[in-house]
Amino acid sequence: MKKRILAYGRLNDEQLAQLGQDVEVQTFPGLASADDPAFRAALPHAHGLIGAGLAITPELLDAAPRLEAIATISVGYDNYPVEALTRRGILLCNTPDVLTETTADTGFLLIMAAARRALELADLVKRGDWNAGIGPEHFGSDVHGKTLGLIGFGRIGAAVARRGALGFGMRVLYSNASPKPELERELGAERREMDRLLAESDFVCVTVPLTPKTEHLIGEREFALMKPSAIFVNIARGKVVNEAALIEALEMGRIRAAGLDVFEQEPLSPESPLPHMTNVVALPHIGSATHETRTAMAQRAVDNLILALKGERPIDLVNDVALRGG
Ligand code: DGY
Repeated sequence: MKKRILAYGRLNDEQLAQLGQDVEVQTFPGLASADDPAFRAALPHAHGLIGAGLAITPELLDAAPRLEAIATISVGYDNYPVEALTRRGILLCNTPDVLTETTADTGFLLIMAAARRALELADLVKRGDWNAGIGPEHFGSDVHGKTLGLIGFGRIGAAVARRGALGFGMRVLYSNASPKPELERELGAERREMDRLLAESDFVCVTVPLTPKTEHLIGEREFALMKPSAIFVNIARGKVVNEAALIEALEMGRIRAAGLDVFEQEPLSPESPLPHMTNVVALPHIGSATHETRTAMAQRAVDNLILALKGERPIDLVNDVALRGG
């Protein structure tokens, strides 16, 4: 008998057909919560899950005793209880690599838009308020030739740095647990303690994963270390930043502007002042959201899940779980 999987992420017809060759697929399009009664009813029979955006709890795992593998359609896996999965022998697969360049593009979009005040000035045109030549009160800041500080220098951090160094002649600083000598050679990047990076950078871009160690990594103290002209960009996870401290730093003029793709609470609460601030560019977590990349991520998740359920090593395995054999 075929194994059964529950698909709650966006998969195209070819991907569903590919899965269907090996497993029985039950789809849950637009599933908003794990408490959905049909999803709950299907969990006890599920060998695999594929999707994104659903918080998987140990309690949910208790309801899925046959579960062997989860393929998340994301590189981040902060929504998953990795230890609980490992204890139960459940494989967790993510989708690195395929979204690196697109997410780095989003980082640079935020750097450029915040520096050149693109949304604020586009709004002025839209309102019909472009009545005269633009003067100093609307000037932005240069990006080329400035110092770009990356907090986290993994694949995505390096791809943002490459854009800065090679495309915009920027000096690149990075703070990372381990040194990256190859990137230092390739990009002239220099490793710094985080405090020094914050003090020296014109643009500070956060690309670390969310872990207990990185939660609220950037707060009041860190904003105080930045230049008053600094532009802060977050394409990682909202919880890496103390959002109240960020709001205060922007309101008090301790930093110049921010470009944000991620927030402590998503979707962003209508009460949040952030999208109303003229010096903030706020995007609805679109880091990897292009047709090409989301299709590639879904494909990678499909391939991972099929391999995992066959007892073979998936391409991307987050947790070190003994493979079961097919
Ligand atoms: C990821 O893959 O973790 C991204 O944040 C989703 O866009």
